[in-house]
Amino acid sequence: MTVKEEQAILKSWDTNAKAWTQAVRNQEIESRNQVTNQAIVEAILAQDFQSMLDVGCGEGWLIREIANTRPGDYMGIDGSEDLIRLAQELDQEHSYLNLTYQALNIGSLQRKFDLIVCNFSLFGNESVDDLLLKLKGLLNENGRILIQTLYVEDEQTGWQAGSWQGFSKQFTDPAPWYKRNHQAWINTFKYANLLLLRHQINSHPDTRKPCSVIFHLTTQTQE
Ligand SMILES: C[S@@+](CC[C@H](N)C(=O)[O-])C[C@H]1O[C@@H](n2cnc3c(N)ncnc32)[C@H](O)[C@@H]1O
Repeated sequence: MTVKEEQAILKSWDTNAKAWTQAVRNQEIESRNQVTNQAIVEAILAQDFQSMLDVGCGEGWLIREIANTRPGDYMGIDGSEDLIRLAQELDQEHSYLNLTYQALNIGSLQRKFDLIVCNFSLFGNESVDDLLLKLKGLLNENGRILIQTLYVEDEQTGWQAGSWQGFSKQFTDPAPWYKRNHQAWINTFKYANLLLLRHQINSHPDTRKPCSVIFHLTTQTQE
């Protein structure tokens, strides 16, 4: 049972909502500035979609960024009430909903999307397995799911202690996270009956070290 860890993830984001917003909006996270922000924005803009759900949207930068280039139908959900309030404050045009993955159910949103994006927002174990099953029900036909996460090639999968190393002193109470290596993610997608179309590994331009992976998924049409 990992309920304790799953709860700690939610609590930590609530606690650090302000510090996180400041770090994102002041562009304090080097890997985001150098690699991962551009990678997810380009991956999204290469898709053919009218509507997009940002799952674990945080303070909402991704929707604001994409909507700037491609105005459209966007929604964000996140478990942190403060982050959702901060997202909505800066963007009244789109809706941001305070909803945990655990509380999300088929009727929660009363609609479907062409594209669902999870940008560094999947930290749990069972909550992530369950979420992926639920996200399938929120996708329009031929819809796509994009997941950007840390690239872990072959280290062991399992719960890890959290750390805010490299972040400002304002951050406290790091949450544990469930580390999945590449194969573990592939198994997770199989379990959810999602079809992995391709994956793209994004490396730091100076060190050449992989920073992240973006998985491109769709609903499985064949058993
Ligand atoms: C690293 S932040 C990323 C935020 C945003 N996607 C971005 O790119 O800036 C992770 C986000 O996932 C959200 N999150 C993590 N676990 C969650 C859960 N079980 N339910 C809802 N939101 C969750 C947190 O509240 C947090 O806003």
